Parts: sequence; C-alpha cells; structure tokens
Amino acid sequence: MVVLDPRNARYGGHTVSTRRVVIASDHAGFELKQALVAQLRELGCDPVDLGTDGSQSVDYPDFADKLAAAMAQGQADTGVLVCGTGIGISIGANRHSHIRAGLAHDVTSARLMREHNDANVLALGARLIGLATACDCLKVFLETSFEGGRHQRRVDKLSPPPATPRPA
Ligand code: RB5
Repeated sequence: MVVLDPRNARYGGHTVSTRRVVIASDHAGFELKQALVAQLRELGCDPVDLGTDGSQSVDYPDFADKLAAAMAQGQADTGVLVCGTGIGISIGANRHSHIRAGLAHDVTSARLMREHNDANVLALGARLIGLATACDCLKVFLETSFEGGRHQRRVDKLSPPPATPRPA
C-alpha cells in the first residue's frame, strides 16, 4: 500500500517524519547521495550520512559495511546505499544477516521490495538511474509497508541457513 502523505505514513511503529535513515555511497554514488540526503530532509526524515564525502575513489564494500554496522547498533532501521550500479554495494550489504537490500531502477521495484520482501535498505545505481526516478524510488520505498502474510513466511526463509556440511 502506498500512503500518499509521507508525514502520515507509518513504518516500523514510527511516522516517516520521525524516521531516521542511514545513507552511504561510494564515489560513484556521491552526487546522488547528496541529492537524496536533501530529499530525506524535505520529507521530514532524519538522515544520517555515513559518507563517502567526495568524489575521491573509495571501495563500496566499506560503505556497505559501515551502513550495516550503524543499523546493527540501532542507529536506524532503514538505509539507503548508492554506488555506480547499485549492484556491488547491495551485494556487500546483503552479506550481513540483518540487512535485506533491494536494488531498484523503477518505482515498482521500490514498492514491491517493501510489500513482498520487507527490504530495509534501498540500493540505487547512480550511473544507471535518473535523479527524478531515484527520488521517486526513495519516496515510495519510505511510504510503503510490508504486507506480511504469505510474504512473512518467505522472508523468514531468507535468514541464514544452517551451515552446509562439507563433503567428506
Ligand atoms: C566504481 O567504479 C563502481 O565499480 C561501483 O560504484 C559499483 O558500480 C560497483 O558495483
């Protein structure tokens, strides 16, 4: 369900307007991240910018790890990650068991990753997506609730499986 007024939307027991969102990017995602930080403020959220802080080359896994650590510490229950494609940084984030990062290039993906997958991190590819679409994806991601029901059972199955036995 998409709630049109973000200030009235509820998510994880908080209204969007009181919601803290952690956000990070590598150098390729830096400019888009800055725009998304501004958008988060406009939406009334409380963005926590974990870097990177400029266009100097950095390694996207470091920023995925930084965001995962901040969420593990309880700084926020929602995150946004940006790299050139969104692929590397979402792979990095999804190594952490408390993260479900979904990559969106369109608003439908941003909505469905919340409704069906209970994604807690939105990943975007700055070199592949336009600014307006990225902003729309973020807004819809924040405004959409998890549907639960049959999707809860499936999301439960995304938790880490028991260690696979090694062949003798
Ligand atoms: C950096 O050049 C680029 O590889 C990175 O931003 C990302 O696209 C990786 O998946």
